[in-house]
Amino acid sequence: MTSAQHDIQVPLVDLAAQHQKLAPEIETAIARVVSSSRFIGGPEVQRFETDFAAYCECRYAVGVASGTAAIELTLRALDIGPGDEIITTPFTFFATAEAIIQTGATVVFADIDPITYNLDPMAVQRAVTPRTRALLPVHLYGRPADLDGLHAIADGHDLALIEDAAQAHGARYHGQRAGSLGAAGCFSFFPSKNLGALGDAGAIVTNDETLAARVRSLRDHGRTSKYLHQEVGFGHRLDALHAAVLSAKLPHLDRNNARRRELAARYNELLAGTDLVLPAGDNGTESVYHLYVVRTPQRAAIIDGLKAAGVESGVHYPVPLHLQPALRAMHLGHGTFPVSEAAADTVLSLPLYPEMTEAQQDHVVAALRRLVG
Ligand SMILES: Cc1ncc(COP(=O)(O)O)c(C=O)c1O
Repeated sequence: MTSAQHDIQVPLVDLAAQHQKLAPEIETAIARVVSSSRFIGGPEVQRFETDFAAYCECRYAVGVASGTAAIELTLRALDIGPGDEIITTPFTFFATAEAIIQTGATVVFADIDPITYNLDPMAVQRAVTPRTRALLPVHLYGRPADLDGLHAIADGHDLALIEDAAQAHGARYHGQRAGSLGAAGCFSFFPSKNLGALGDAGAIVTNDETLAARVRSLRDHGRTSKYLHQEVGFGHRLDALHAAVLSAKLPHLDRNNARRRELAARYNELLAGTDLVLPAGDNGTESVYHLYVVRTPQRAAIIDGLKAAGVESGVHYPVPLHLQPALRAMHLGHGTFPVSEAAADTVLSLPLYPEMTEAQQDHVVAALRRLVG
């Protein structure tokens, strides 16, 4: 290894590099909000909602405080609560299930497809009961779930299909934008997401005017006017500051997603022929590679070896939700969802972000090739 190679550090994501690229636009947006003193609601939030709805090819977008709030408020706006069952994946970030539980509804897990890591429609079909009200697929790592298969089940049983698109801003399923294919799409703008705010933020998108209006009210204390509250809601609004920053970043999203796809294709080429299991092909979807995830039984050793070479990696996610301590009351032990458990034991996220240089990527690949067969 040359000393130049040794000096290369590759983080899993590099938000500082992203900020540097867009700093003038972001700082202008922040200054505009500060000088307007309109920190809650107002034109910045409206503008972002209009722009994000158009981007997602939906009629409405409602900005909220986080991706978790987006899911919970959508479920509540559909009058989902105690006694209802929602089917989702155990192989996701905890918030997907948490939002369901916060409504008082029951989470029902179904196992995933071993190739795409997304909900397996056959497993979902087996989990449907007379109490099922909605399906909540997650487009994990930016790759849309099998929405045709899930729609067939939802339509057959009169269920709502709600997309957890927190990792899939701009992804497409048979040409249509992620988030636009069901009753509502729920997005997170957590800073490291493909479209990230400067803190917690989220949105729902929908073509259903009634649903949008109900979420708009629920996010703002169930208000219908300044001091009239139609129902008990939440303080889950999107801040104007985040909305302004998101509006500044949104025009760059497609280009950044295209770069992620290029880098993913380059990883696929450079890692072909190794023992690593690479991400599945597109098959009618257009993933936006929120994460580039490979599989290997030697994960722990590879993480250590990469670290020694200055390469950060991650695991999304090491513990499937049915095995989380917080959900122990569900009494779902090891072996209940074997495909999710096997994925949790072997997935490894490699560095991928639009600002990553080819030299950095070559460094990751060279380090990996020394570690795997
Ligand atoms: C799949 C998924 N669902 C929900 C969330 C929750 O979003 P937030 O952190 O904005 O509440 C996240 C991200 O953090 C996520 O990755």
